[in-house]
Amino acid sequence: MSDITPVTPFDYVIFGASGDLTMRKLLPAFYHRFRTGEVPRTARIIGVARSPLERSAFQQRTREALESFVEDAYHDPEIVTQFLELVYYVSLDAADETADWSGLSALLEDGRVRVFYFATAPKLYRKVCATLDARGLITPESRVVLEKPIGTDLRTAQDINEGVGQFFSEENIFRIDHYLGKETVQGVMALRFANPVLESAWSAEHISSVQITAAEVVGVEKRAAYYDTTGALRDMVQNHLLQVLSLVAMERPASLDADAVRDAKVAVLHALRPLTGAAVGENTVRAQYQAGEVKGEAVPGYLDELGHASTTETYAAVQAEIDTPRWKGVPFYLRTGKRLAEKVSEIVITFRPPEAGRSSESDLFPSPPRANLLVIRVQPDEGVTWRFNAKDPADDGFDLRCATMDVHFERQFRQRYPDAYERLLLDAVRGNPILFIRRDEVEAAWRWIEPILEGWGRQDVPMCGYPAGAHGPKEADDLLARHGDAWYSGAA
Ligand code: BG6
Repeated sequence: MSDITPVTPFDYVIFGASGDLTMRKLLPAFYHRFRTGEVPRTARIIGVARSPLERSAFQQRTREALESFVEDAYHDPEIVTQFLELVYYVSLDAADETADWSGLSALLEDGRVRVFYFATAPKLYRKVCATLDARGLITPESRVVLEKPIGTDLRTAQDINEGVGQFFSEENIFRIDHYLGKETVQGVMALRFANPVLESAWSAEHISSVQITAAEVVGVEKRAAYYDTTGALRDMVQNHLLQVLSLVAMERPASLDADAVRDAKVAVLHALRPLTGAAVGENTVRAQYQAGEVKGEAVPGYLDELGHASTTETYAAVQAEIDTPRWKGVPFYLRTGKRLAEKVSEIVITFRPPEAGRSSESDLFPSPPRANLLVIRVQPDEGVTWRFNAKDPADDGFDLRCATMDVHFERQFRQRYPDAYERLLLDAVRGNPILFIRRDEVEAAWRWIEPILEGWGRQDVPMCGYPAGAHGPKEADDLLARHGDAWYSGAA
């Protein structure tokens, strides 16, 4: 890794420390940054959760988490042992303001950057802030990191923002969306604004559609209780997919200053054409997975897994439009779902093919040129594929054939691609909010999502089905087919 800037010593308090996110993502992310020298040896990572647990037992859990979630090539037992020295544990019910908080206060050092990371139920955010305040634990160097979901609709999001805002100023509130920590999502800005060829073609004049996909193979598994009250639209579209959309569609920011970038992003969210009334039925699809087969294994349907009836979608597809001159008439197709055929997150930009009779290229060749495609692979295998027209070598004339240029960033740059949380965790220590969501962004996103939720609540849109292991419901294919489009299937 090039360019290592160590951060100043910090105290990082993780509420919800026994949860999956802490074990699977947060502790491995800290470990990687410790291994590269970015996290100083004097930093403290303090897990807080209700279970009574000795520090040594939490360190042992951390060790096991690192064994499971850090790739073998980076798992160095000596560094793991040094890292465990940073790890502390406090048994505390954060929802109980009368509990004994002295164990936590005793570990915190004045004058240091202090980060409170809330990996707990969002309905507790305000309450925990109030207790931190009452206990005198919020210092001028304190920040708070809020995990999604920030609310379940606009009003609840505003309540959370107001509540937390009573104790932390906006510049010290870091709303995390881990998609912004993904390298290729950040790379969208570099691709667009550092390459004049792309920048000049980045508009409705040259682009006919944009697809943003986040497909998952996993089902809801142990998270059924959370997921069934949430669904794909709230869990993925309101945040991750709209954030990606805003980076793809935003105007060039005046600078790479956090507020300039976030101003440009929020302008896109404000320009999303509202989907209300009949438009909800015409532009959205919701579905649940049914029994099927994923990677050769039979898996039950969503309702069987739950054991009761439910109207929660495990798949959502939405056609959005952005009412700006740049994007006039260009559909932005968003889709996400659980138990799909493969795990893939990607952005597909389809350029307009030359129109017959209008351009010399189309009339010059015996077969018409096909649309150019730019595929930005967010995960796995971060990279970019460019599909273009080439001369068909099997033809003695000038027939065309599609060829692809494929860049795999990890191979090309010979550099490990970090997990999204690595940069985000330390950006909160650095006080750099560029990859975090500002209050107005969260609320603008909810404002656009809410009418869709209302339409679905009125049953304006049927609940479709798809067999687990499929690419989604047929109705999502029909959504694009109405515009003569089709979801990108990887086949260039
Ligand atoms: C989370 C959602 O925000 O993102 C999960 O709550 C989802 O349901 C996850 O599985 C997907 O993240 P990634 O990085 O695996 O695409």
